[in-house]
Amino acid sequence: MQKDRPMLDAGHTEETLLEVNNIEVIYNHVILVLKGVSLTVPKGGITALLGGNGAGKTTTLKAISNLLKSERGEVTKGTITYRGERVQDLMPSDLVKKGVIQVMEGRHCFEHLTVEENLLTGAYTRGSSRAEIDADLELVYSYFPRLKERRKSLAGYTSGGEQQMCAIGRALMSRPETILLDEPSMGLAPQLVEQIFHIVKSLNEEEGYTFLLAEQNTNVALRFAHYGYILESGRVVMDGAADSLRENPDVKEFYLGMSDEGRKSFRDVRSYRRRKRWLA
Ligand SMILES: Nc1ncnc2c1ncn2[C@@H]1O[C@H](COP(=O)(O)OP(=O)(O)OP(=O)(O)O)[C@@H](O)[C@H]1O
Ligand SMILES: [Mg+2]
Repeated sequence: MQKDRPMLDAGHTEETLLEVNNIEVIYNHVILVLKGVSLTVPKGGITALLGGNGAGKTTTLKAISNLLKSERGEVTKGTITYRGERVQDLMPSDLVKKGVIQVMEGRHCFEHLTVEENLLTGAYTRGSSRAEIDADLELVYSYFPRLKERRKSLAGYTSGGEQQMCAIGRALMSRPETILLDEPSMGLAPQLVEQIFHIVKSLNEEEGYTFLLAEQNTNVALRFAHYGYILESGRVVMDGAADSLRENPDVKEFYLGMSDEGRKSFRDVRSYRRRKRWLA
């Protein structure tokens, strides 16, 4: 496993915002889902959490933002810190005040509210003035012009892509430092996925938001992220700079679909290669 972290800004060591250290998560007191997951999210980066169906990506994000309780899940081992401070006993709303917000998988807009009302709900955790809220709305609309056009429409009648934009926009309204973004590509056409990832990249580069982004779509995620962790069955099986993961033959073969063999377990691919090398 690669331990060296990329330096986003040459010459400066990067600042760690979020640190997940060897966590274990159990659902319903018996189902062990995360088996010692560790990851680091540096300030100003886009960190990708990759892996297939059921690998544990959403569970990891929910463990961080303390949303497991309502699912009868519990962190039974390990620690989660934000800016060095233990955060795993905080209420989700306290974490939002510290600057960490999650955009849930499946978009979750309030269908019976308009797009703009949805965005405004994101501002309630802060007690800001109307002028500040208006300025934030303008910021969101500048990145998502489509939302401005649709601002009076009921969110339930907007497209999947617009709902994803609305969910991200609502998160931005809480003035976060770090956004945990769960599966933004889900159910969207490739062109829209591309568009949303471009916006995430601009938000990262121009506004300095830090992202931890869970994705099954390894291909897209590794083009936009700086660093990636690959989860399989609740364990990190590989991590590294996005470029190096993209070039890694095992990742190429297994996740980027560049092999004509059937999809196997990532570990099988690795041990198969190791065996081949050993035989050679
Ligand atoms: N509330 C729950 N109770 C019991 N098991 C759960 C619960 N939520 C998730 N799991 C199990 O935990 C494992 C990891 O699920 P999780 O949703 O974290 O995966 P994921 O990587 O986000 O997958 P996907 O890409 O499909 O969203 C799966 O085996 C899933 O069945
Ligand atoms: Mg998920």
